[in-house]
Amino acid sequence: MKKIQVISLFPEMFDGVFRTSMMWKAQKEGAVEFRCHNLRDYGIGPRQQVDDTPYGGGDGMLLKPEPLFAAVEAAKEYDPTAKVVLMTPRGARWKQATAQAWSESEVGYIFICGRYEGYDERIVSLVNEQVSVGDYVLTGGELPAMTIIDSIVRLLPGVLGGEASAEIESFSDGETLEFPQYTKPAEFRGMKVPDVLLSGHHAQIQKWRQEHSLKADS
Ligand code: ADE
Repeated sequence: MKKIQVISLFPEMFDGVFRTSMMWKAQKEGAVEFRCHNLRDYGIGPRQQVDDTPYGGGDGMLLKPEPLFAAVEAAKEYDPTAKVVLMTPRGARWKQATAQAWSESEVGYIFICGRYEGYDERIVSLVNEQVSVGDYVLTGGELPAMTIIDSIVRLLPGVLGGEASAEIESFSDGETLEFPQYTKPAEFRGMKVPDVLLSGHHAQIQKWRQEHSLKADS
């Protein structure tokens, strides 16, 4: 059972995603367990402060270290061997091969979702991996974390439902992206399904699919 935890100021953002479709199925089948920690619960003082102004001046507020350290410690109590992942546009670009590796690994993951203008750099000392979903800046790490979690969970054994789907998507090496697919009707508003796909000729269909697949990173 894969343990996936999230630390966020907006844990309710994950409700819909975790309760729908593949993610919901994965939990019901016991392939994964999700836990969300509200960073605010670890905030300091009567106002449960989680951010503060930067030393040296500058605009905006930074996430303070103490609440994040406390939240990670709480998450590690539940899963002591978990790897801690910081969502940041400065991180390594997320790839399908990494999703595959993390879905196969024995360890759980704790995703820290940053917010606001940034975080105190000492937070990095808590972290095993820094991950970005692309060269653009989002308001927070929640959407990137959902993207990454989805890409891992759907690869957990038994989740995708049938080895055939995995095969169709990735021709074994994980390097090849999906080919175009069609369903009924064979003709719709003048647009026809390629003849070869209606032919029933398996070798030719396989060849067509290979020719029409996109290569990763192209
Ligand atoms: N937080 C804000 N932007 C991000 C990005 N592109 N990837 C990961 N985390 C982020």
